[in-house]
Amino acid sequence: MRIFHTVSGLREALTIHRREGLRIGFVPTMGNLHQGHLALVAQARQTCDVVVCSIFVNALQFGLNEDWDKYPRTYQMDCEKLTAAGCDYLFHPDDTEMYPNGLDTQSRVICPTMTDVLCGASRPGHFEGVTTVVSKLFNIVQPDEAIFGIKDYQQLAVIRRMAEDLCMPVQITAAPIHREADGLAMSSRNSYITEQERPNVVVLKESLEWIALQVQEGARNFRELETLAIQRIASAGFKTDYITLSNSKTLDPAAEDDLEITILGAIFTESARLIDNLSIRLD
Ligand code: PAF
Repeated sequence: MRIFHTVSGLREALTIHRREGLRIGFVPTMGNLHQGHLALVAQARQTCDVVVCSIFVNALQFGLNEDWDKYPRTYQMDCEKLTAAGCDYLFHPDDTEMYPNGLDTQSRVICPTMTDVLCGASRPGHFEGVTTVVSKLFNIVQPDEAIFGIKDYQQLAVIRRMAEDLCMPVQITAAPIHREADGLAMSSRNSYITEQERPNVVVLKESLEWIALQVQEGARNFRELETLAIQRIASAGFKTDYITLSNSKTLDPAAEDDLEITILGAIFTESARLIDNLSIRLD
C-alpha cells in the first residue's frame, strides 16, 4: 500500500491510473478501523481496479464539546489492516493539508435538506462538516465509486443527495452494517463504552427490531411506538437522543402509508453516543 500525506502526491499517482482507464474506488474514514471499515474496502476491491482509503479526523464535523481531541487515533494498526485488506493507496493528510486557509474561512458545502433532524438536531453543523470534507476528498481522489456504511444512514442519505444536487460524477454505494456477536453495530466510538454498560447497549438494536416487528404486524401509531421504545431504553439505563420512524428516502417522520420506513435511533451511555438503524419495506 502506498501512503500519501499531500494532495499533490496522491493526485499525481492517481492521474496515471485514470489515464489507464482504471476504475477508482474510494473509502473515506476517520481511522480506528474495525471490520465494518474493512468490509467497505473489500466491497471496493470487488468492483474497482484501484482502491483508495483516507484517514482524516475531520475537526469541521465535530461540535465544540464533542470528542475530536480524544477520538481514537490508531494509525499504525490502521495501516496494517488496510494493507491486509488489499487497499492500494492511503491518503493521510494533516489539518494544514486539508484546510490550508484555516477552518473559520473554509468554503463550505451546505445541504439544506435532511441535515437538521435526527443526528443533525443534536449535532448542529455536523453534516456541513461532513459534506464539506467529503466534497474535498471527492475532488482530491476523483473516484468513480465511493463506499459508505449504512450504519451512518443519515450521512449516507445526505451524501447521496449532495452528489446528486451537485452533479458529482461518482457512484455512491451503500455497505451493510457490521455487528458484534450480540448485535451491537460496530463503531469506532464503541471503545468509549464502559464494561458495566456493554451488556446493556444492545437495547438500542433490540428496540429498533421491536418497533419493526410491531409495524410489520400492523401497528401504525408510530409516535406511540417511539415513546414505548424510549421507555424500554430508559429501563436499560440509557438516555435516548432520538428514536424515530422516518421515510427511508426523505427522512421526514414516517407517514402511515409510507412503504419504505427506516427506524433510526441514538442513545447516550455514560461516555458514548451510539447510533443504529433498521429499514423495512411494507407491501
Ligand atoms: O463516516 C465517517 O467516518 C466520516 O463522517 C467521513 C465520511 C469519513 C467524513 O469525515
